Amino acid sequence: MANLLVTGGAGFIGSNFVHHVVDHTDDHVTVLDALTYAGNLDSLRGLSEDRMTFVKGDITDAGLVDELFSQADAVVHYAAESHNDNSLHDPRPFLDTNIVGTYTLLEAARRHDLRFHHISTDEVYGDLELDDPERFTEQTPYNPSSPYSSTKAGSDLLVRAWVRSFGVRATISNCSNNYGPYQHVEKFIPRQITNVLRGVRPKLYGGGQNVRDWIHADDHSSAVLTILDKGEIGETYLIGADGEKNNKDVVELILELMGEPRDSYDHVTDRAGHDLRYAIDSTKLRTELDWHPSYEDFEAGLKATIQWYRDNESWWAPAKDGVEAFYASKGQ
Ligand code: NAD
Ligand code: DAU
Repeated sequence: MANLLVTGGAGFIGSNFVHHVVDHTDDHVTVLDALTYAGNLDSLRGLSEDRMTFVKGDITDAGLVDELFSQADAVVHYAAESHNDNSLHDPRPFLDTNIVGTYTLLEAARRHDLRFHHISTDEVYGDLELDDPERFTEQTPYNPSSPYSSTKAGSDLLVRAWVRSFGVRATISNCSNNYGPYQHVEKFIPRQITNVLRGVRPKLYGGGQNVRDWIHADDHSSAVLTILDKGEIGETYLIGADGEKNNKDVVELILELMGEPRDSYDHVTDRAGHDLRYAIDSTKLRTELDWHPSYEDFEAGLKATIQWYRDNESWWAPAKDGVEAFYASKGQ
């Protein structure tokens, strides 16, 4: 049995990963999370203390990080400021957590010679034209657009430098847009589902032609475990499930699945610098590490996600009014 240290394990994808590890391995998980507005201890409810230990703290706290690294066998680093719209409003926390936080963890990984896996995003590659026949691969040059994606790109480059210069035993994965339970209501899919549950019309940025490549969070988790187990040190793996859809189609599908007319949504002010299309070619992960997604039916995954938000209003309701007030102040 190993002790896995998971940063950001009270957030959306981190908490899905913690549940996945507890369900599919014998490992013990220690979660390090600052419980920012995006962290929620309720996302880890039901996990017994002999499988999961929670530590509230900041990844920029070098002393605490050092102590936790001395007790861990491997680290999976999810903690980040993760929302593009917030990064347009106030970039500073993105620099602190995504850059300085990742630096702090890398220095500890170097001191303790720990296996380190860095979670990143397809957004580091910028965006694609709608008709571009190529998708992102591990060879695509970095070209981030937003304060969020540029700090994630910076954190990836730090990891690569610490591998090459100091021999840190790290891997990186860049994943596409996740959906599933425990996602904060500021994000696209939960925002629209919870709007409909509250009798409010969904809000689509601009014309809604922007394409995202959707993957279920549980498939992201299985891919990360696969990379931890079989990935080659120093390598980057792109994670995706061939789930390209434009935002307009997703909103209309949510409305249909929730029994509302498909056109009962509003077009609102577009996001500044809005990336047009993301698309992942995950051939390397599939052929070299034999990983395959389980949730290939987006509609079925979305239906289950809608049901989760119906059943868990107490989880999302406390954040909803504040998020909507923020969007309203931006005309969104
Ligand atoms: P999230 O915002 O839901 O969760 C982030 C978590 O990190 C929260 O629990 C928060 O409390 C914690 N955190 C933030 N700053 C911290 C700090 N300084 N110290 C300790 N903990 C801190 O984010 P998410 O959507 O779950 O994303 C997790 C990771 O996955 C991020 O690195 C993100 O870039 C990456 N990613 C996300 C997606 C997606 O679709 N959401 C896709 C690809 C990659
Ligand atoms: O691609 C991976 C990235 O996916 C991750 O790195 C980010 O952490 C994650 O937040 C996500 O980024 P996006 O900006 O793509 O996700 P978001 O949910 O904010 O928006 C998805 C799309 O929906 C995007 O084109 C903007 C649009 N949108 C969003 C909101 C909140 C709307 O049309 N209406 C909305 O209300």
